[in-house]
Amino acid sequence: MSESPIAIFVPGRINPRVLDRLKTVFDVINGSVDALDADQKNRVRGIAVSGKCDAAMIDAFPNLEVISSFGVGYDGTDTAKAAERGIIVTNTPDVLNDEVADTAIALLLNTLRQLPRAENYLREGRWAKEGPFALSPLSLKGRSVGILGLGRIGLEIARRLEPFKVTIGYHTRSQRSDVGYTYYPSLKEMAGAVDTLINIAPGTPSTFKIIDTEIFKALGPNGVFINVGRGSSVDEEALVVALRERTIAAAGLDVFFAEPQVPAELIALDNASLLPHVASASVPTRNAMADLVVDNLIGWFKDKTVLTPVPE
Ligand code: DGY
Repeated sequence: MSESPIAIFVPGRINPRVLDRLKTVFDVINGSVDALDADQKNRVRGIAVSGKCDAAMIDAFPNLEVISSFGVGYDGTDTAKAAERGIIVTNTPDVLNDEVADTAIALLLNTLRQLPRAENYLREGRWAKEGPFALSPLSLKGRSVGILGLGRIGLEIARRLEPFKVTIGYHTRSQRSDVGYTYYPSLKEMAGAVDTLINIAPGTPSTFKIIDTEIFKALGPNGVFINVGRGSSVDEEALVVALRERTIAAAGLDVFFAEPQVPAELIALDNASLLPHVASASVPTRNAMADLVVDNLIGWFKDKTVLTPVPE
């Protein structure tokens, strides 16, 4: 590494372990781009980001070489702008596969069996006063599950579902040759054939609002929708209508279209189970993600190699 410390810009909040580790190696500038002077902007050669890194942010730094993004999804980073400028972008795949898959199963079970509501019922002292909690109308046994996106996390979700006495299918752009699950060439076809749809597809222009009224209609009145992928894949207004009118039975959501804003209409619905984007949020997994963010930056400035560049 060069003699004077390399400056890394960290916009807004990030896992504290990222900041702690970065500070041992780099000159870390944490805050808002607008607060930086021209000299600081010129010195920045890397960004560590959890959230948005848009074209304006990228162009604020004339000597930027690498953007190290926290999370497997890198839809917050303008990769086209980065590519245009020859800037490397990295993400944190694999280290969160198990955590996100575990959360998907937990969210599915909670959505079907309303376990958080049942616990609240006990905590509010209602069990002794009002009698047993209402029976959950839905159950996992015998369901037919379709997974939208059978990448590394989707595959872990499918593997976890195997012992649950459900059938498993998936839709991706092309069929995988290494799995025996039923392949559906289109999302609509899959939604018509299954009663449980789990989305783990990345947020890209091609997945924008693909889960819409038509898909909810195809899932049907026993249908359950689980989203641990991205909120941008869902027409959220159509989802509210589908839940309110019982076009589908229930939804479990960890991600939202304009998070952290969650529509009040969704919060008001008792057939929606809602989480604040916590699928990967355990200390061990977030530590592993933080380390990857830092190690990618260290690798780049040591010998121009990164561990996990985003796919081309
Ligand atoms: C990510 O890292 O992109 C996921 O949303 C974690 O839940």
